[in-house]
Amino acid sequence: MNIPIPPGVFDILPQNAKDTWCSSYLWNYVEAIMRETARQYGYQEIRTPMFERTELFQRGVGETSDIVSKEMYTFMDKGDRSMSLRPEGTAPVIRSFIENKLYNESSSNKLFYIAPMFRYERAQAGRYRQHHQFGAEAIGNGSPEQDVELIDLLYTLYQRLGLKNLKLHINSIGDTETRITFRKALQDYLKGYFEQLSSDSKVRFDTNPLRILDSKDPKDKEIVEHAPSILDFLSTEARDHFESVKRLLNSLKIPFSVNPKLVRGLDYYNRTVFEIVAGELGAQNSIGGGGRYDGLIKMLGGPELPSIGFGTGLERVIQTMIKQQVPLPKPYSPQLFIIALGEESKEAGFLLVHELRSQGICAEMDYSSRKLGKIMQIAHQMQSQYVLVLGENELHTQVVELKKMETGEKIQLSLPELAHWFITNK
Ligand code: HAM
Repeated sequence: MNIPIPPGVFDILPQNAKDTWCSSYLWNYVEAIMRETARQYGYQEIRTPMFERTELFQRGVGETSDIVSKEMYTFMDKGDRSMSLRPEGTAPVIRSFIENKLYNESSSNKLFYIAPMFRYERAQAGRYRQHHQFGAEAIGNGSPEQDVELIDLLYTLYQRLGLKNLKLHINSIGDTETRITFRKALQDYLKGYFEQLSSDSKVRFDTNPLRILDSKDPKDKEIVEHAPSILDFLSTEARDHFESVKRLLNSLKIPFSVNPKLVRGLDYYNRTVFEIVAGELGAQNSIGGGGRYDGLIKMLGGPELPSIGFGTGLERVIQTMIKQQVPLPKPYSPQLFIIALGEESKEAGFLLVHELRSQGICAEMDYSSRKLGKIMQIAHQMQSQYVLVLGENELHTQVVELKKMETGEKIQLSLPELAHWFITNK
């Protein structure tokens, strides 16, 4: 009996698999650009465990958020401690930042990660129970320049990956006092429509009314259309900060639209919040999002340090690249495929492959005793750039013929020259 993969998760497969977005070479390509872009913007990698104490997410992300209240993979370990698989990356990074006293090392810490996250969501296209995020957290700087540097990092990354038609939505959800006053005003407005709200929004009315603003339910959407705007409740300081963010985005020529209904689903945010959407993804159209979380470090027991970060899902990024038909790198293919005929040649070919690889050349060989035509077919399937047939004659004369698969062109070389030829003709 075969045991199938659990629902909502997927394998990342070798390149010859059918589903291109799940090909490891594509993931490697995207991850390499993410790492390189993060490096250029001064962000260093941090790796935290895949599970943490459940309390970290309850306190850090917030008990009223969907992620914590409905979607966590929580279990008791053998020491009777409640643990949860990481549903997001920010709370663990801040836990590590505080625990390792990274704040002693420099005044500003810029960290990034590429890691799997786990959320027990209703599995559908673009929404998985294990997804992967590239995330960045800039800790210790509260200036609008920092907000825009971080948004620019994400925007530049998408451009480098070839993504198009992206929309950046930004909003400011102000300081704690703003949200307390706004919450009251919003509840006063929604009271009159309470019975018409969706069942989720009825629950949120008391627990987290701001989330009703970005409900996907059509009736909720209609109701909040004329709701008060949080932007009218901002303190002078928060408003000035938001104005500077907009000005700096304009000066970097990053197009955006202000969406006063954007509140995001995690409780730690304040001031600037943002999301980047791609039309091609349908309902799950948010490919990346983030915001400021100036109170989180103190709340988790560290010093008072302002911070901002984002997370972008690799699945959604790669799926968008494919839907938008952006130019993708070619899958890996060997430079040379050696076909050895006869026992003696097989051993010589085996040694030759080893020798070529030790000089950095991607060489392949078929170890079976299949017929020449069949092996040639394998070399074709692997899209090898060159093939070389090694038989008794070639061993005797030490002269081989390289065949360029694409054009059929033939090149005669002496065996001892082979590695050098590949190194100089890359
Ligand atoms: P988030 O908006 O929950 O934010 O997730 C960030 C991104 O992860 C989303 O925009 C989406 O691309 C991807 N994503 C989320 N859930 C799924 C899923 N079930 N399946 C596929 N992709 C998904 C955060 O997690 C925050 N920690 C971001 C942040 C960092 N804010 C500040 N710093």
